[in-house]
Amino acid sequence: MSLKKFEILEMIAKGGMAEVYKAKTTGLQGFEKEVCVKKILPHLTEDDSFVNMFVNEAKLAATLNYANVVQVHDLCVSAGGEYFIVMEYVNGKDLSDVIRAAQLAGREVPADIAVYIAREVCKGLFYAHSKTDPSGANLNIIHRDISPHNVLVSFMGEVKITDFGIAKASSIMNKTAVGILKGKYGYMSPEQARGQPLDHRSDIFNTGIVLYELLVGERCFAGSSDFSTLNLMRNAEVTPPTKINRSVPPEVEAIVLKALSKERGDRYQDALALEGALADWAKKANSVATATELARFMRELFAQAEEREKAGSTGVLALSSVVGPAPKSEAEVARHQINPLAGAEGRRPQGRGRPGGPGARQASRHQGRALAGRSPGRGPRPRGAGGGGGAADPGARARAGP
Ligand SMILES: Nc1ncnc2c1ncn2[C@@H]1O[C@H](COP(=O)(O)OP(=O)(O)OP(=O)(O)O)[C@@H](O)[C@H]1O
Ligand SMILES: [Mg+2]
Repeated sequence: MSLKKFEILEMIAKGGMAEVYKAKTTGLQGFEKEVCVKKILPHLTEDDSFVNMFVNEAKLAATLNYANVVQVHDLCVSAGGEYFIVMEYVNGKDLSDVIRAAQLAGREVPADIAVYIAREVCKGLFYAHSKTDPSGANLNIIHRDISPHNVLVSFMGEVKITDFGIAKASSIMNKTAVGILKGKYGYMSPEQARGQPLDHRSDIFNTGIVLYELLVGERCFAGSSDFSTLNLMRNAEVTPPTKINRSVPPEVEAIVLKALSKERGDRYQDALALEGALADWAKKANSVATATELARFMRELFAQAEEREKAGSTGVLALSSVVGPAPKSEAEVARHQINPLAGAEGRRPQGRGRPGGPGARQASRHQGRALAGRSPGRGPRPRGAGGGGGAADPGARARAGP
C-alpha cells in the first residue's frame, strides 16, 4: 500500500477507529523521514458531522508544537475519500504496553519513573490547555481521552501525548442511549461519565488515572460490568493505591487521590499544579527520575519482553508471581485474568511492537487488556514485591521513601 507522499512500511495497530501505520516520506536526494500515518476507518468518514468535527479538531491539534505532544504534520484525503493523519513517529511503546510488559516481567513501574511520566504528561497538557489563538483568546483545548493508550514513551525516554481532539470527533459517533462515550469505560472523569460539559480539569482527573495505573499495575476503574464501572467513575470511587501496592509512597498516593477528586474544584486546578506537586515529592524523596532513567527502564523492560518471545514464553511463569499459581495454558491465563470490561470495550484488540504481523499483535493487545484488569481477590503486594526492588532498580530509592 502506498500514498502519494508516503510509503507505508508496516501496520502498527488497528482499532475501532483507525489503522495506524509506520511510514516514510521521501524527498530530494534520498531524503527520508519516518512518520506515523493514521487512517480513519471508512465507516466513520461516511458521516458528514464526524468529518467536519474531525477536520476541525485535527487542524487545531496540528497547531500544537511541543516536546510532550505528538506533532501532527498533515491531514490528507485520498482520491477514494480516505482520511489520513500524518504525524510524528514515536519509536517506543504506549503506556498500556509498558504496564503489561512490566506485569509479564513480574516487575513494577518504579514510583520515580511513574511520577516522571506523569509530570511529562502534565507539561504537555498544560501547554495544550494554555494554547491561545492569534488574538490571545484561549482555545480551550481539552484532550478528553488521556489514557495509557494515548501516552507514548520512546526508547529515548521521551513522553508524548497523542490523539488530541480525536476523542471529541469520535464522541459524536459513539453516543449510547444515555449519551456517554462507549468504549471509553474506565477512562472517564465523573463529569464525562455523566455526559456533562468538560473543562481542562477532566484531563487532570485522567492523568490521575494514568498515574494510578502505572503505580499499581491495575485498572483504576474496573467494575464487574460496564454499568458498575460507569458508577465507579461517576462517583470517583477508587481503591487507594497503597491498598493494592504497599510500596506506593503515601505522599504520591495523596497526590493521585487529589487528582482523582470527584468534584473538579477539589482537584489540582491546572496541569502545572499537579506537575508541581509531583516535582516537590520527587525532590523531597530524592527520587527525581530523568529521561535517561526512563530510557534505561524501557530498554530493560522490552529487552526482557523480546527474550521471552524468543524463548517462546507466554509470560505465564512471570505472571504466576503476580497473580498466584500458573495456569496451564495461555487460554487459561486469559480466562483467569480477563476483565469483563476488556471484552466489552470492543476497542482495538490489537497491540503493537510484537514481531510477526498484525495477527500476533492482536493477541498481544488482547492479552494486555486482560492483564490490565483488576485481579479479583488480589491483596496488597508487600513492599518491594514484584521483582523491581534490586539495587539497579531506579525505583528502589523511591520505594524506600524519603
Ligand atoms: N505517533 C505514533 N507513533 C508510533 N506509534 C503510535 C503513534 N500513534 C499511535 N501509535 C500506536 O498505535 C496504537 C494505536 O493507536 P490508536 O490511537 O489508533 O488507538 P488507541 O490509542 O489504542 O485508542 P484510542 O482510540 O483511544 O486512541 C497506539 O496505542 C500506539 O501504540
Ligand atoms: Mg490513540
